[in-house]
Amino acid sequence: MSNLSTKQSQNILITGGAGFIGSNFVHHWCNNYSSDRVIVLDALTYAGNRQNLGNLEGQENFKFVEGNIGDRPLIDKLLKAENIDTVAHFAAESHVDRSILGPDAFIQTNVIGTFTLLESFRHYWHDQGKPENYRFLHVSTDEVYGSLEPDDPAFTETTPYAPNSPYSASKAGSDHLARAYYHTYNVPTIITNCSNNYGPYHFPEKLIPLMCINILLGKPLPVYGDGQNIRDWLYVGDHCSALETVIKRGKPGETYNIGGNNEVKNIDLVTMLCDLMDELAPNLPIKPAKQLITFVKDRPGHDRRYAIDATKIKTELGWTPQETVEGGLRKTIQWYLDNQDWWQPLLSQEYQEYYQKVYGN
Ligand code: NAD
Ligand code: DAU
Repeated sequence: MSNLSTKQSQNILITGGAGFIGSNFVHHWCNNYSSDRVIVLDALTYAGNRQNLGNLEGQENFKFVEGNIGDRPLIDKLLKAENIDTVAHFAAESHVDRSILGPDAFIQTNVIGTFTLLESFRHYWHDQGKPENYRFLHVSTDEVYGSLEPDDPAFTETTPYAPNSPYSASKAGSDHLARAYYHTYNVPTIITNCSNNYGPYHFPEKLIPLMCINILLGKPLPVYGDGQNIRDWLYVGDHCSALETVIKRGKPGETYNIGGNNEVKNIDLVTMLCDLMDELAPNLPIKPAKQLITFVKDRPGHDRRYAIDATKIKTELGWTPQETVEGGLRKTIQWYLDNQDWWQPLLSQEYQEYYQKVYGN
């Protein structure tokens, strides 16, 4: 999906654009709308990495601003100075296990930070005369809907919210604010709730990169609980094209669910990764990699199953995912094999301390 609209170029502010999905989206946007001006605002937390932006820095239509979404004076200044018409809001604390260890940052960034951004955008949009083409895209997660039983129907946009972790509760809070800003002030917010992404630039703490890296290092592959939890996997490029579609064609005040129709049990996914790594990676320290699978203590409050019903975005906006799980995993594994210089430095002292806290010895 590209160039969905012929309308004049945009000035887009992308928060969290140095993170995993945000940076993929920045590349996607710059490739498809090269005359648009793209501003990335990112606080560069442990999950933010300027290298993810590659050679975009230095290009005329691109600007990186290091800063916090909770910094109201900075946001006020930025919206005005850059004449922003579209905000794509990715910035968040995103890892469930970290939210269990320490929820504070999740409330600060995901709730208060989103509130600050919305409030700044509301005043700015009002002062500009409430232009009809302005958009505030709030990027959220399927985790706000809680956990499904094996035979439950997939989440739709009307499934009641039932978040179970501090992460998902904080995202739910931010979703409610984005919704309220449309209903109360007519601010043109749109919310997307997406399932699990994977692909390039995924921080090593998350399941798929963690397993790829541990296989390369010959380390145990920690599968939580009985490994029967189910996630609905979506290649990050498909998420980016869905978000592009929503910005171009979505209706303010609406919510769109985004998913890959790819429900897989964790143990099956890890096994698939092991088999693909055996095939694609030269000189693995332990082969077959399956031998490394180790069942470990479950994540507290671990949601059993997520599944997205993406009928609305398909029928109303014409978006469908393109990538299969096997195709997406092959590309992802190849990227981690080709980009060891990217992930090696991320296994820092801070990361080792985090790893120790979650997995022990
Ligand atoms: P990530 O953790 O990889 O990146 C988050 C980025 O936000 C980082 O660059 C970080 O530096 C930045 N950031 C954090 N706090 C900030 C602050 N206060 N001010 C400015 N920048 C800040 O996250 P991700 O996986 O790319 O997720 C991006 C968004 O998509 C999040 O809102 C997340 O909830 C949502 N989401 C993620 C997934 C997924 O599978 N990863 C699925 C659905 C929705
Ligand atoms: O569903 C969307 C969400 O997907 C996003 O909102 C989150 O930001 C993103 O982190 C992701 O959350 P999950 O908790 O589902 O992803 P994670 O990669 O942490 O874990 C995926 C599954 O694998 C989950 O059932 C827990 C399990 N797991 C994870 C890790 C890190 C393990 O079994 N072992 C592990 O070491």
